[in-house]
Amino acid sequence: MKTSKWLIAFLALVMVLAACGGDTGSTDTTAGATDTTSAPDTPDTTDAPDTTEPAPSGDCDGEQVLLRTFTGAVGQELEMAQNQADRYMAENPCITIESIATPDFVEDRLGTYLQLFEAQSPEGDIYQIDVIWPGDLAEHFVDLNEYGAADVTGDHFPAIIENNTVDGKLIGIPWFTDAGLLYYRTDLLEKYNLEPPTTWDELEASAQTIQDGERADGNQDFWGYVWQGNAYEGLTCDALEWIASAGGGSIIEPDGTITINNQNAIDIVDQAAGWVGTISPPGVTAYGEEDARGVWQAGNAAFMRNWPYAYSLGNSDDSAVKGLFDVSPLPGKTAGQSAATLGGWQLAVSKYSEHPEEAAAYALFLASEPEQKYRAVTGSLNPTIMSLYEDADVLEAAPFFGSLLDVFTAAVARPSTITSPKYSDTSALFFNAVHSVLTGDADAEDAFLELELDYTDSFPDFTVGTP
Ligand code: GLC
Repeated sequence: MKTSKWLIAFLALVMVLAACGGDTGSTDTTAGATDTTSAPDTPDTTDAPDTTEPAPSGDCDGEQVLLRTFTGAVGQELEMAQNQADRYMAENPCITIESIATPDFVEDRLGTYLQLFEAQSPEGDIYQIDVIWPGDLAEHFVDLNEYGAADVTGDHFPAIIENNTVDGKLIGIPWFTDAGLLYYRTDLLEKYNLEPPTTWDELEASAQTIQDGERADGNQDFWGYVWQGNAYEGLTCDALEWIASAGGGSIIEPDGTITINNQNAIDIVDQAAGWVGTISPPGVTAYGEEDARGVWQAGNAAFMRNWPYAYSLGNSDDSAVKGLFDVSPLPGKTAGQSAATLGGWQLAVSKYSEHPEEAAAYALFLASEPEQKYRAVTGSLNPTIMSLYEDADVLEAAPFFGSLLDVFTAAVARPSTITSPKYSDTSALFFNAVHSVLTGDADAEDAFLELELDYTDSFPDFTVGTP
């Protein structure tokens, strides 16, 4: 994992904050991100909502409010968040927003957050939180319904609002949603006279054909299929897709039945292990989303599993695959058995913030319809506001939001609600078990038997059953 880079960034942040004496009312803190990352892609700001209105004449009586927002930095996320912050500050001159980049790997991001929560630190006001975290982290956030969110929750997908509601409290306003997709090279499918694969067997065969052909044509760096194989949350997402699309259930079902140890799950994970070093690079067992996108966007893969954010970047001017790819549902064990893991991010306001009112107002601004539209058009991030799926500009920028709407609305949830507040541990046991199979240290039969035992220890009230 990229822990060290982020640890350094985090420590640097702590030092900057310490130097500021933790005075959240200070005006001398530089707005902007502490780590701008090396992302080469600058979002097109022409899609930004019009903010040419004159700013209020801002006499803040020395009461400048600093809001520190922990935001994702995958793809264009950070740049878009900074653009949004700039526009908000122009309209709200008494507010200074610092958009703080967080690690790409969700475990590292969670680690950063937990350190601040443990200290009950006011040095974070708004946190971008994963769809899997509301149950685990609810105690650290305010109820956004008490800060005006109740007026807008009806605009969002009800399932996400339900996911984010813990003990009746809305602990995060949905910001964007996503689900796993298959990216495929239209030019290469045509060259080799192939159709987009609908089964894993077809994907394997087509990936091999294209890989062999492209290497014979001189590209020794070419691979058939890239995906997320590191031992982290992304692998939980990929492996859940394999398993659910093979009739193997969803690890632990919403009713608390532990189903992971079944033959369909075992067979498909053993099959995926066979991709490593054949149609996928040996290094795929250390890949996250951005590693897969790097290979893909350089033109060195026939297929990629990734989230929707990779769509707009793949079509950017500096992409080798601009205009040469499309997306489809992921394959299944049989055609039509496809499954996509539900992902996505929410904005939560810390209980330890000294400015919860202002923080909630900013979170609601970021999650509002015009701002979700901006991120959908610029960064192909799926809105959580339902009406935007009928917006012509959004559909023009990301046509698959319409054509693959079912993929997003029928996505498979990870077992975060039923295992809360122990989801992170539950997921770590799962992705480590799968990773041991991918690296050849175990076979899936042994790994899932052991995992089942671990789960019965962790959840004595749950029962073991079939999916
Ligand atoms: C994406 C998803 C998130 C998931 C993560 C795994 O960011 O939105 O839900 O946990 O990928 O890497």
